[in-house]
Amino acid sequence: MNDIKDIIEEVKSRCDIVSTISQYIELKSSGINYKGLCPFHGEKTPSFYVNESKQIYKCFGCGEGGDVINFVMKMENLDFIDAVKVLAQKYGIEINTNMDEESKKKLEKIKKFQDIHTEAARFYFSNLHTKKNSGYAYLRSRGLDNKIIKKFGLGYSLASWNSLMDYLTSKGYSNKDLIECGLLAHKKESNKIYDKFRNRVMFPIFDYRGNVIGFGGRVLDDSLPKYLNSPDTITFNKRYNLYGLNFSRKEIKNKTLILVEGYMDLISLYQYGIKNVVATLGTALTKEQGMLIKRYADNVIISYDSDEAGIKATLRAIEILSDIDINVKVLNLKDCKDPDEFIRKYGVKGYQEAIDESINQIIFRINNLKKQFNLNKDEDKVKFAKEASKIIKKVKSPVEIDYYTKYLSDLIQISIDSIKREIYGKSYNKNGNNKYQKSKYIKKDEVVIEKPKIITNGEKFVEKNLIKLMIEDKKLRDIIVLKVNDNDFLLDESKEILNWIIKNQELDKITIDKIKSLNISEEYIKDIENISLNNMSLNNVKGVDDIIKNVKKNTLNEKMNRLLKEQKEIEKNKNNSDTKEVDGKIMEIALKIVEIRRMLQKL
Ligand code: CTP
Ligand code: MN
Repeated sequence: MNDIKDIIEEVKSRCDIVSTISQYIELKSSGINYKGLCPFHGEKTPSFYVNESKQIYKCFGCGEGGDVINFVMKMENLDFIDAVKVLAQKYGIEINTNMDEESKKKLEKIKKFQDIHTEAARFYFSNLHTKKNSGYAYLRSRGLDNKIIKKFGLGYSLASWNSLMDYLTSKGYSNKDLIECGLLAHKKESNKIYDKFRNRVMFPIFDYRGNVIGFGGRVLDDSLPKYLNSPDTITFNKRYNLYGLNFSRKEIKNKTLILVEGYMDLISLYQYGIKNVVATLGTALTKEQGMLIKRYADNVIISYDSDEAGIKATLRAIEILSDIDINVKVLNLKDCKDPDEFIRKYGVKGYQEAIDESINQIIFRINNLKKQFNLNKDEDKVKFAKEASKIIKKVKSPVEIDYYTKYLSDLIQISIDSIKREIYGKSYNKNGNNKYQKSKYIKKDEVVIEKPKIITNGEKFVEKNLIKLMIEDKKLRDIIVLKVNDNDFLLDESKEILNWIIKNQELDKITIDKIKSLNISEEYIKDIENISLNNMSLNNVKGVDDIIKNVKKNTLNEKMNRLLKEQKEIEKNKNNSDTKEVDGKIMEIALKIVEIRRMLQKL
């Protein structure tokens, strides 16, 4: 099949949603639907429904819903095309998009190299258990149990010059390919070919789909080099891959990933139950790895080694991740050199606490900068203030700038005004009526809303309009329930009607009397009755999408207004005695506002 659109259609028609979802969770027949425990949020009573005739699913607990492709995307954390591919493969749908000879050859080679790596990983793994070796004892001495060894496919390369070579050539692979994969080494001078990895514990490196694409091999003692890694090949490129992502992408909660430096760090954390972790592959974090992270997470907690090199790498990673709008925090390992040592010493509870206490990247950078100065000297203090101001200057949100300015001011006992002047230049005017400052805000942050708005009838109308559409038209109703949640609405009545509609989805026709029997005010009902849908084509799904967007936008704006108001209120009542707690509260609200802005921009 050539055309990707045909492939998608074929996938949808051949992959039955009930049997696909049943491979992940248990479904029970319930009326015209199937139901089960939602895999996307924790629940004890089932609110996850699958409708066979419509081939859609919907959870009335968390609001997730969609078709079979959406389900696999969400469940396996894949992007659209990869989800289609997974399903196509499962259901034997052939995909050979129009390819020229060269691309076909390349694909075949990639496939062959993947097979080679899979075979090699099996061989190394079996060495651990079937041959006499010191690798297994080493892994156990590092605290790893059999379960985790198996999960990560850890293995051992024998202390021999040719055991892998013999094994793989007996499977029909050529030395040329094995050399190109970096599994065999070729010494040109003596024309000798031999196993590259010898007497090392082996860490297979997976791509995010779970294919083995390379290896890292660690010595069993303190000799050097500590790790040997596969070279970049047609299947493996260190810039583009992250160790552990094949597992962690299924474990992400709150859109947060933890970033560590080493294989052992990641595996240890995983063994202790901290599973939303990825590791770089012995190189500094790259932009490409940053983008890969961004596919899965909005927040990253950096948990690099605590030594000088680790701090340097942390600063570099902060730069890369902040540049692509990821919220970055940094975790403090106290007296431990790396996460592996930390979790073994303080346990999962300790690490969890360290996650909760991890500090914002700006504060981390300011604290780190501070170490270079002797703040008892006035001269140093000024230099530090200038440098720290540069860090704060990069922050976009005015509320956050205020917070960090205050932090810096407390740290060095220099007034907030002087620091602001440092940030904004001489034109800063503390009464706030300064042009430079205002224009800067508006340029960087387009959705600055200064005065809380009041919900107007216009906004309520849009919402009621959407409800009316749902009442009137069964087809649109089925689509709309997939796209909205009750917290997308401003009015309690709208929420109540939506929830009632969701519970009564099998009804073809909803009468206004039914709506009246709910706890809805007369005024609301009257408005609904008065809305005329005459000049709206019910087939115009795009029009409906716009309405949904407006409803969501209004609600987010309203939430932001409430937060801004709350913030003002706190500022007003603030007195000097309880600053720390109050600042925490202000920061909390500021972060919520930032989050809402982001959601608004995404709409
Ligand atoms: N690394 C490497 N080559 C080296 C040293 C390190 O490729 N010679 C990479 C590995 O990916 C390693 C990571 O850098 O996992 C972090 O290095 P390090 O902290 O020294 O290793 P750990 O993973 O902590 O390993 P261990 O705890 O076994 O010492
Ligand atoms: Mn270590």
